Parts: sequence; C-alpha cells; structure tokens
Amino acid sequence: MTTPAPAIDCSHLTHRYGSFTAVDDLTLQVHRGETLGLLGPNGAGKTTAVRVLTTLTPVQQGEVRIFGLDTRRNTMDIRYNIGYVPQQLSIEAALTGRQNVELFARLYDVPRTERTERVDQALAAMQLSDVAEAVAGTYSGGMVRRLELAQALVNRPQLLILDEPTVGLDPIARDSVWTQVDRMQAEFGMTVLLTTHYMGEADALCDRVALMHHGRLQAVGTPAELKATVAEHATLEDVFRHYAGSDLTETGTQSGGMREVRSTRRTARRVS
Ligand SMILES: Nc1ncnc2c1ncn2[C@@H]1O[C@H](COP(=O)(O)OP(=O)(O)OP(=O)(O)O)[C@@H](O)[C@H]1O
Ligand SMILES: [Mg+2]
Repeated sequence: MTTPAPAIDCSHLTHRYGSFTAVDDLTLQVHRGETLGLLGPNGAGKTTAVRVLTTLTPVQQGEVRIFGLDTRRNTMDIRYNIGYVPQQLSIEAALTGRQNVELFARLYDVPRTERTERVDQALAAMQLSDVAEAVAGTYSGGMVRRLELAQALVNRPQLLILDEPTVGLDPIARDSVWTQVDRMQAEFGMTVLLTTHYMGEADALCDRVALMHHGRLQAVGTPAELKATVAEHATLEDVFRHYAGSDLTETGTQSGGMREVRSTRRTARRVS
C-alpha cells in the first residue's frame, strides 16, 4: 500500500514582489490531521506563503502539492478541499450572517438540496444560530471571525487554513474560536494550518510549529522539541526570540509596510 500524500507538500517555494524576496526557498510538509502553526515576525512572509498554498496566488518558483494535487494544474479541485480564513476580514457587512454563509455554499457548489441544512449546521457549529438573521455589520469582532469560520467550513474542507484568526479578539472570544475549530477537527479529521502571533495559543493548539524569518524557514518541530533546542525551561516566546532575533526593523518594501499598516487599521476599524 502506498502512503497517502501529505496534506501540504511545499517544496523550494520562492515568491518575489519585484526584486524583493518575500518567501525564500520554503520547504515544508503538513501531515494529514495535524495542526501546524506558522509563526514569525511581521513581514516574515507567512501570509504570502499561505496565499500560495491556497492557490489564490500562483506559484512563481518551486512546487506545491495539496493532498497530492499540483496547485499549478488542479487549482479548482484543491480549492474545493480548502477552507480559508484570510488575515483581512472578508465578510459582507450588509448581508445577514446566514446570507454570508449561503454565498459561500453557492460558491463552493454545495448541492442545492443540502444547502439549507449545511448552512444551518455551520452557523450552529459556530454558535451563531441566534444571530443568523442579523446583518453582519452589527456583529462583534469575535462573532465576525466565527462567521468567517462558518463560511470556511460550509463545504466541509479537508484542509483549513487560518491566517491570524484571533487577532484583536478578547481571550474569551479567542477561546471560543479555538473550541469550535477543535470540535470540527475532531469530528471531520481536518488538517489545520494557522498563523498567529500569540505564542501561548500556538503552544497549546499546534502539534508542530514552523518559524519563518525574512522569508526563510528557521525551525520546525513540536513546541517541546523547539523549546529544548533553545534552553532548559524555555517558552515558545523564547524560541521565537531566538530564531527571529531582536532586530525589529521589518523587512520589505516601504510601500509594503504602509500597505500592512493600512490594512491592519482597516481590520481594527471593522472589528471594533
Ligand atoms: N502585494 C505586495 N507587494 C509588495 N510587497 C508585498 C506585498 N505583499 C507583501 N509584501 C511584502 O512581503 C513581505 C512579507 O509579507 P507577508 O504579508 O507575507 O508577511 P507576514 O509574515 O504575513 O506578516 P504579518 O505578521 O505582519 O501578517 C513584507 O515585507 C511585505 O511588505
Ligand atoms: Mg500576515
């Protein structure tokens, strides 16, 4: 029997914006059923890498396979198997919670006969049934993130990719997002790839973490393994400092920096 292909098999991926290299020769596998946390300072290249893995950004150099399928050739098949929550908020504020999820159900070709039931289930799983008929513009930040998860889960993806799903949320809202993801993972055996700046969250949730800095993969392993390489009694935050260093001069183009700040502000405004 041949072993099944990994959920994500990323080999020598390089991505450039003009002459600037945002992802530099990234080789990384994510096993089926595991939760892998992609960590790294602002500008490390996490979102760029994640967008290539979702097929939203085409591969420039290297090779990416999702469940054995080549992202260059099997783009649509791969998209049907992926649920993605982007870093920037993606809901439609003028639509109700239910309409937002229905939109995704249609986009992902959930069969018409199953649609209502699936949308109901996704909303219920994210504990949004009571507010499903309210316009999403009235939701709190935590509710918006849970609505995006409901959208990402409505097609029952085998792979869930979350780019900073809990940024700006209070601890209770964060817990609630992770409880729901955990439950869905236990139920459907999903593979989860997430990025986060909360080291405690990564430590608690991830089977393995991968640390990026300046577009390069610096370290990958279980939280315990990585901590052991740094020092006795080290925390994941110590690991982060060790590999990301103390240089806080963010890499990248100036326009990129401005863009990041603008998008973060926009996110913050919409969440508040
Ligand atoms: N469309 C773009 N055009 C030019 N430069 C870009 C573009 N998108 C990202 N960059 C630059 O590429 C680098 C990596 O950005 P990316 O968004 O992948 O980082 P990140 O690790 O997700 O950071 P953060 O933790 O702040 O979300 C940054 O220096 C950024 O300025
Ligand atoms: Mg990012």
